[in-house]
Amino acid sequence: MNSLTLATPEPANAHSAEPIVRFEQVGKNFAVEGGQLEAIREFSLDIAEGESIAILGSSGCGKSTLLRLLIGLDRDYRGTIKVDGKAINGIGSERGIVFQEHRLFPWLTVEQNIKLGLINEPLTQAERYRQVDAFIQLVGLDGFQRAYPHQLSGGMAQRVAIARGLVASPRILLLDEPFGALDALTRQQMQEELLAIRARAGITSLLVTHDVEEAIFLADRVVVMAPRPGRIKRIVEVDLPHPRNRGSYEFLQLREELLHELTGDGDYRPPAPRVQDLPLTSIAY
Ligand SMILES: Nc1ncnc2c1ncn2[C@@H]1O[C@H](COP(=O)(O)OP(=O)(O)OP(=O)(O)O)[C@@H](O)[C@H]1O
Ligand SMILES: [Mg+2]
Repeated sequence: MNSLTLATPEPANAHSAEPIVRFEQVGKNFAVEGGQLEAIREFSLDIAEGESIAILGSSGCGKSTLLRLLIGLDRDYRGTIKVDGKAINGIGSERGIVFQEHRLFPWLTVEQNIKLGLINEPLTQAERYRQVDAFIQLVGLDGFQRAYPHQLSGGMAQRVAIARGLVASPRILLLDEPFGALDALTRQQMQEELLAIRARAGITSLLVTHDVEEAIFLADRVVVMAPRPGRIKRIVEVDLPHPRNRGSYEFLQLREELLHELTGDGDYRPPAPRVQDLPLTSIAY
């Protein structure tokens, strides 16, 4: 783990109050049959360098859409999204993403899939392999370098996707429900790893989650969204020192408060269950 060559970036805006990411009145519509679906309305948020934001909201409230806009995959939106004070123009190597589904290429091995994250980096082949190997160790997949995605469990595939998102040492890491497919124990371990990586590399992170506890464990601020159209309902600061104790009174109190915020107005839609979470009977019928 000590061999990781994570960038320790000199904050680009250390001497100014300028945020590393700024959403200004961002809105997004989708053309759907019979008209327009307003997915996001007037989303404004400043994120400071090194800050960790969690976006919490019910299914369909526009969380993945927001990340797609920030990563630069979709340019058709209202308002402005700035990184380092400049409006974004497509994708950029300072931003990395871990998608909601792992999106690995089935014909590439674990090693080759992770190496794709370095495609735009000016590294020698040996440096690439060294960096890829360090991240394989980090996510606990040593020995699976030459395995193909179909030979992995869902959780292992998701860990490959996390390694691919991190391997180029992005300054801003976007994570869309990255730990959703992991068992409870691995999930906690990965959350702790993410904290360690962030502390070491000074990464700014934007994590989408349905899990209130995960949001409180990881984030400096939790942005609670309301659905239809997706908009900010409330921003809650998590002023607890790290490492956070999931069983402490303050933690549990905040958890209650956020759960209430999320579900209190009866507008909450839980995520669709994954196939592996369904009881066999619901699959059989
Ligand atoms: N390509 C698309 N075309 C039409 N509608 C879309 C498209 N992508 C997303 N939507 C709609 O936009 C809304 C927000 O979708 P999004 O995927 O961002 O939700 P989400 O908050 O990530 O939900 P989940 O928690 O279930 O992943 C939903 O109503 C969805 O149906
Ligand atoms: Mg989503």
